[in-house]
Amino acid sequence: MIRVAILISGSGSNMEALVRSMTGDHPARPVLVLSNVPAAGGLAKAEALDVPVHTVDHRKYPRDRRTFEVELRRNVENMQSDLICLAGFMRILTADFIAGYEGRILNIHPSLLPKYRGLDTHARALAAGDAEHGCTVHEVTADLDDGPILGQARLPIEPGDTPESLAARLLPLEHRLYPAVLRRVADGNREPLYL
Ligand code: GRF
Repeated sequence: MIRVAILISGSGSNMEALVRSMTGDHPARPVLVLSNVPAAGGLAKAEALDVPVHTVDHRKYPRDRRTFEVELRRNVENMQSDLICLAGFMRILTADFIAGYEGRILNIHPSLLPKYRGLDTHARALAAGDAEHGCTVHEVTADLDDGPILGQARLPIEPGDTPESLAARLLPLEHRLYPAVLRRVADGNREPLYL
């Protein structure tokens, strides 16, 4: 069985989709939901789903990313996690941390990478006049929102779309894409999946 730790910072809707997908003949199971934000709504969702939760509050480690990451690593290792899924986790991980999990950290990003790394992706797609938008699941490497693409889902941008309307239409696609990619990766398939 592949043991999956899911890192969150917020509402945890992608985390919930991932957890709910890991049942039956799925080769992976969730073993930890970890948040860097004590008030993250996803923590209660994870508890309701019977997944062990933990918080490592980054504000307790001001200007000390290393110690924050030592704590992250300790928790991930405690649960003997094989794979880490970042799901709305809003801290940048250092190259050192990532090197300890080469090819074993996945992330979902709300854009069609390589477009719009970083924040405000919906607004940036609109400002650029793009005809379509989407989300990407990728392997995490030391470069921000980079790394091999494992899957993408696209949606057309409609006249009158706002960052909020785009985000709302994209989220259900994220909830389909991320579990589908996790399943493939757990099965040893890293060919990109295009929805
Ligand atoms: C998602 O849009 C994800 O792509 C982005 O942050 C959002 C997280 O939402 N990185 P949730 O916490 O999974 O509900």
